[in-house]
Parts: sequence; C-alpha cells; structure tokens
Amino acid sequence: MTSETDLLAGQNGCGESMPLARQHLQEALARAILDMAADGIITIDQNDTIETFNTAAESIFGYPAQDVIGQSVNLLMAAPYQEQQHGFQARFFPNNPSKILGLYGEVEGRRSDGACFPMELGISNLHVDGRWLFIMVVRDISERKRAEQQLREMNVALAQARDQALEASQAKSGFLANMSHELRTPLNAIIGYSEMLQDDVEDRGLSDLVPDLKKIQTAGRHLLTLINNVLDLSKIEAGKMELCLEHFDVAGLVREVTDTIEPLVQKNANTLAVSCGADLGRMHADVTKVRQSLFNLLGNACKFTKGGEIGLRVERRSEALVFRVSDTGIGMTPEQMKRLFQDFTQADGSTSRKYGGTGLGLSISRRFCQLMGGDISVESTAGKGSIFTIELPADVTKAAVRTPE
Ligand SMILES: Nc1ncnc2c1ncn2[C@@H]1O[C@H](COP(=O)(O)OP(=O)(O)OP(=O)(O)O)[C@@H](O)[C@H]1O
Ligand SMILES: [Mg+2]
Repeated sequence: MTSETDLLAGQNGCGESMPLARQHLQEALARAILDMAADGIITIDQNDTIETFNTAAESIFGYPAQDVIGQSVNLLMAAPYQEQQHGFQARFFPNNPSKILGLYGEVEGRRSDGACFPMELGISNLHVDGRWLFIMVVRDISERKRAEQQLREMNVALAQARDQALEASQAKSGFLANMSHELRTPLNAIIGYSEMLQDDVEDRGLSDLVPDLKKIQTAGRHLLTLINNVLDLSKIEAGKMELCLEHFDVAGLVREVTDTIEPLVQKNANTLAVSCGADLGRMHADVTKVRQSLFNLLGNACKFTKGGEIGLRVERRSEALVFRVSDTGIGMTPEQMKRLFQDFTQADGSTSRKYGGTGLGLSISRRFCQLMGGDISVESTAGKGSIFTIELPADVTKAAVRTPE
C-alpha cells in the first residue's frame, strides 16, 4: 500500500517516479486527507524546518500554513522546549533517526498569540529520497486537561462535603444519643408514678380514675419505645453500640419471646405456630439484641396480619442459628421491599396512620444482626404474606463481626 507520505513525496512505495497526472491526483488526495484530519499534522525536515502544515494545525496554532512553512518547528513549542540547545529532532530522536517512535506523550505547544497549551504529540519518521522527514501529529488537549482539573477539584470538594456531612451526622447522632438518654429519666418517672398512683387510687376506692391512669402509662410506654429506638439508632450511627456477649439457651429465649408476644398475636385474631429444632443448644451472642430483633419481626408479623397464621421456625445449621418468621398478612410489592431496612421508612405513607410505628424496627434489628456477624433477609408477596429470616453465628466471638451498613 502507498502511504500518505509517499504520496506527499510524489512517489510510489518503491521510490520510482510515476506519470504526472497520477502524481497530481495523488497529491490532491493526500492534501484532502491531511486537511480533513481532526489532528494537526506537520512535517519537518532534518533541520527542524516545517515543510507541511495542515488545516487542523492552522486552527490549533493560529498560524496560516504559509506563515510557518520554512520556519523552525521551535516556533510552535513552549519556552522550555525552545531553549534547549539541540534541535527538535535531537531531543526526540537523540541517537538514531532511523528508529521510528510512536506516541511521544504530552508537551506544551505555543499558539501565534503566545499562549501556551497542553498538546499530545505523536512523532514518526521516514526516509524519502535519501533524507529524513519527520511527521508530527498534534492534538490540542486543553479541553481534556480542563475537564480533568475540574473533575479533580470536584472530587476534592465532594470529599470535603462528605467529611463535613459525616462530621455533622456524627455530631447529630451524639446529640440524639445524649438527648434520648436524658429524656428517658423523666419519662421513667412518669410511668413509675402513674403505676404507683394506679395502686393508690384502687386502694382508696377511686377506680373511676384507673382508665385515665392506664392511658398515661400506655402513652408513656409507647414514648419510651420510640425514644429507645432513636437512642439505639443514634448509638449505632455514632459507632458507640457495643455488644454484650453471653452464653444462653436458644430454646429458652424462644419460649420467653413467644410468651411475651402472645397478647399481640391474639390482638389481631392470629395464631402462632412455633417449630424448634431438637438440637438448638446454646448460643454465644448479645441476648438483648437477639430478643429485640425477634420481637420486632414477630411484632411486625402480628401488626400486618389479621386473622392469619404467624410462624416461628428455629433451626441450627452447624455454626449458625436461623430464625424464620412467617406470616399470611398484607405482604409487600417488590418496590416496597426495596425500601425496607431504611431508617424511618415504611412500605407506604399510609402505614404509619393505619398500623402505627416509626419505621425504625427493621433497620435497627438488621444492624444489630450485622453487628453480631449475621443478617436479616426477606421474601414477600403482596397480599399473601412475608418471611423474614435472621441468620446469626452460634458463637459471635468466633464470627467476623461486621460493621453495620
Ligand atoms: N411482616 C410484614 N408484612 C408486611 N409489611 C411489613 C412486615 N414487616 C415490615 N413491613 C413493612 O416494613 C416497614 C418497616 O418495618 P419496621 O419494623 O422497620 O417499622 P414499623 O414496624 O413500621 O415501625 P417500628 O418497628 O419502628 O415500630 C413497615 O412499616 C411495613 O410497611
Ligand atoms: Mg416494626
């Protein structure tokens, strides 16, 4: 194949001359190709003198071709490249001009108005008519460099914003943790005194006051649960949630949890079926957190099921314990499931009005399980029911305890 440079030189690949008309045609073709090229293409001779300068090179450097042809290529280079003693080629082809180089890399060019700009420079050379010609392919990369710089600045700004947000979030979590703690003390007093008053009024035969005192107690307990949830969440977020590990009997815990949950099961006319493997044995974990997670899953099953079945199946699988809570309640759509485990998020806006709750139970339970090296997963079909599965290592110290997401 005949190359562009051969065409420029008006020769075929073997260096033989060709008929004039064909030579003109090839020259016109070569010129058209060079002028259409998006990159600047410049040829220089052995003395650094510019021989050809295509249209893209004209717009990159801001010189018309006739102003630069015959001049030194140093005209197009930024000061440090001009000041060097040796010629342009001596720098790029120090020892052996017959060695063809590919892409040289990034250098600084200079436009006709003196402005310097970053350019990508590729150089190759060829031997024509007993002399060396050097072909420079030049690309103005100012835009790319600007975009890279902007990206770098944006990344720095993003990192700063993230650090600030993280700091603010930790400060907020710390504040919430302290605040919730402070709120609990007077609230416990309110609950305690309403209980004492209830006993007193009953003793004094004022039983018509009892329903009102019971309402104070119920509202107080509800508030206490909410505050405890916020306290848990802020402790987790501030990285201050600690595990209190102990050995306990799994079947015993299951009995305790199912006994406590029974009134909730009956409230919505549900039934509870418990199935425990014979070999549940003992577990080494934070029993309070396992209990709280189970309560939340069972509480949800009771809350979102009416006149249905709730199941709790507990199995030991070698090094792990699996607690599976199933229900035949309202279930969830795939979209609703995507929002699960997010703080303060319920399946839809009407849930809180209809069923109560704050949307914290699942995210707290999941983070508890993750703290213990386990997790919670879910399967559900809208209108049919849900299955939530807690999987926990039987021995939490031996498990790689994960930082919650
Ligand atoms: N068994 C279930 N059946 C149907 N939807 C459920 C079930 N469990 C959870 N959900 C959906 O997931 C949401 C989040 O549950 P989560 O336990 O985190 O919050 P909550 O029960 O609404 O409030 P909280 O637990 O803080 O009192 C619920 O509001 C509900 O929309
Ligand atoms: Mg809940």
